[in-house]
Amino acid sequence: MLFLVLCCFWLTPAGFGLEFRYHNSAEVEQYLREVSRNYSSFTHLHSIGHSVEGRELWVLILGQNPRQHRTGIPEFKYVGNMHGNEVVGRVLLLQLIDYLIKNYLSDPFVTRLLNSTRIHILPSMNPDGFESSGRDCMYSQGRFNKNGVDLNRNFPDAFSNDNVILREKEVVAVMEWMKTERFVLSANLHGGAVVASYPYDNSNGGSELQGLSSITPDNDVFIHLAKTYSFNHTTMHKGDSCYDSKDFTDGITNGYSWYPLTGGMQDYNYVWGQCLELTLELSCCKFPPESELPGLWAANKPALLAYMQQAHLGLKGQVLDSNGIPVQNASVEVNGRRNLCPFRTDGNGEYYRLLLPGNYTVTVTHSAHVSITETISVPYGPEKFSALTHNFQLQRSSSDSSLGATIQPTCVSPKLLNSENHSATLLPCAFTALSVLILHRLLLS
Ligand SMILES: *[C@@H]1O[C@H](CO)[C@@H](O)[C@H](O)[C@H]1NC(C)=O
Ligand SMILES: *[C@@H]1O[C@H](CO)[C@@H](O)[C@H](O)[C@H]1NC(C)=O
Ligand SMILES: *[C@@H]1O[C@H](CO)[C@@H](O)[C@H](O)[C@H]1NC(C)=O
Ligand SMILES: *[C@@H]1O[C@H](CO)[C@@H](O)[C@H](O)[C@H]1NC(C)=O
Ligand SMILES: *[C@@H]1O[C@H](CO)[C@@H](O)[C@H](O)[C@H]1NC(C)=O
Ligand SMILES: *[C@@H]1O[C@H](CO)[C@@H](O)[C@H](O)[C@H]1NC(C)=O
Ligand SMILES: [Zn+2]
Repeated sequence: MLFLVLCCFWLTPAGFGLEFRYHNSAEVEQYLREVSRNYSSFTHLHSIGHSVEGRELWVLILGQNPRQHRTGIPEFKYVGNMHGNEVVGRVLLLQLIDYLIKNYLSDPFVTRLLNSTRIHILPSMNPDGFESSGRDCMYSQGRFNKNGVDLNRNFPDAFSNDNVILREKEVVAVMEWMKTERFVLSANLHGGAVVASYPYDNSNGGSELQGLSSITPDNDVFIHLAKTYSFNHTTMHKGDSCYDSKDFTDGITNGYSWYPLTGGMQDYNYVWGQCLELTLELSCCKFPPESELPGLWAANKPALLAYMQQAHLGLKGQVLDSNGIPVQNASVEVNGRRNLCPFRTDGNGEYYRLLLPGNYTVTVTHSAHVSITETISVPYGPEKFSALTHNFQLQRSSSDSSLGATIQPTCVSPKLLNSENHSATLLPCAFTALSVLILHRLLLS
C-alpha cells in the first residue's frame, strides 16, 4: 500500500512526461518553446501564420536536420484540431512530440525514423475554435474558426467551381506552408468517429466516381495507408462502434462514400500538393473527459508511429540533365496512374512517389528535354526507412518545340483569395449559418 502511494507520487512531478490534460494555447506555446530550447539539435519551432484572432499557428519540426530539407529525406506532417472542438488529435500530437524527444537516440525505431524523415507537427490548426469550444461530445460549438467558417470546407476543390469562396487565414497559412515544403505524406486528425478516411472526399460524377466511392489513381496506396493506421490502432480496425453505428469494414472508408464534401484539406493535399493525406477520426466523443486521454494515447501511439514510417514507400530520386544539373518541374508519371495534376520535380529536381511493392513503368517529361520511360522494380521501403532511390537522366531535345509534353489541361493552380477582403464575406457567413443547421443533424466529424 505504502509502495503504491510512493510509486504514484513519484511518477507525477513535472518533467516526467507531459500531463494528460487539455492545455490551452498559451500552455501549448510554452511547452513547444521549451522543447525547441531543450532539444535544439533535432527540433525546430516556427509559426506558419496566425489565426483570425491572432494566435500563432505553431509547427514543431523534428528530424536529424530540422532546419532544412535534405535531398532524399521525405517531409511528413501531422495536423490536429482543425475543428476546434475535436481535441483528441491536439492532445495526441503533443504526447507524440514528448515521446519522440524522450526516445531519440535511445529507442532504435524513433532514432531511425527521425534520422530518415523530417516530421512537421501542427498540434492546432484552429486555436480560436479550441478556445471557444464547449466540452461536449457531439455538438459543434468551437468547430468553426472565429469567422464561423468550417476550415475543412474552405480549400480549393478540384471537383467544384468554387473560385468565389474566400480563404480563411488558417487555410491560407496551410496553403503557403505547403509551398515552402514538399510534403509527401500527411494526416489530419479529427474526432466524432473512429475510422481512417482517404480521398477523394468529392466528385463531379467523372471517371473517379466508381459505385458509391470517389476513387483516386493511387487507391491501392491509400487503402494500404489507411489499413496501416487502423490495424496498428488497438480497436479502429474492428469497425466503428460509435453512436452513428456506421459500419466501417477494417476501420477504413473512402471519404466520398462516407459523405461527400467540398473544399476538404485531404483532396487539396493530394491533387495540388502531391501529398497523400488521410483524415483520421480518433474518438467517438469529440471532447472526451481528461481521464480517457491516457487510454487514447495508448490506442493510437503504435498507429501514429507506423504511419510516419510509410513516408518511405515507393520511389524517390532526382531528375538530372546530361551535366548532372537538377531539372525542375519535370513531370514524373507512373503508367496507369493519371493524376489530375502530374507529380513534378521540385526546385532541387527531386520527386517522391509513394507506391506499393511491384514493377512500375515511369515516364519523365520536361519541355526542354527528350522524355524517357523506364521500368522499375519497387521493394517495400518502410522496413529499411528508405524508398528506393532512382535518378533519371534527361537529354536536351534538339528543337525547342516540346517533344511529348502531354500536360493535362484539368490541372489549374487554384487562386489564393484572402478573407481579409471583407467585401465578400457575407456570402460565406450566410452559407455557414445554413450549414450549422445541417451539421447539427448530421453530427459531422
Ligand atoms: C526543459 O529544461 C528545463 C531545465 O532543465 C526543464 O525544467 C523543463 O522541464 C524542460 N522542458 C521540457 C519540455 O523538456
Ligand atoms: C542518427 O543521427 C545521429 C545524429 O546525426 C547520429 O549520432 C546517430 O548515430 C544516428 N543513428 C542512426 C541509427 O542512424
Ligand atoms: C503496422 O504497421 C506496419 C508498418 O509500419 C505493418 O507492417 C504492420 O503490418 C502493421 N500492423 C498490423 C497489425 O497491421
Ligand atoms: C511547369 O511545367 C508546366 C508544363 O510545361 C508549365 O505549364 C508550368 O508553368 C511550369 N511551372 C513552372 C513553375 O515552371
Ligand atoms: C518484377 O520484375 C521482375 C523482373 O524484372 C520479376 O522477377 C518480378 O517477379 C516482377 N514482380 C512483380 C510483382 O511482377
Ligand atoms: C478585394 O479587394 C480589392 C481591392 O480592395 C478589389 O479590387 C477586389 O475586387 C476584391 N476582391 C473580391 C473577391 O472581393
Ligand atoms: Zn472534424
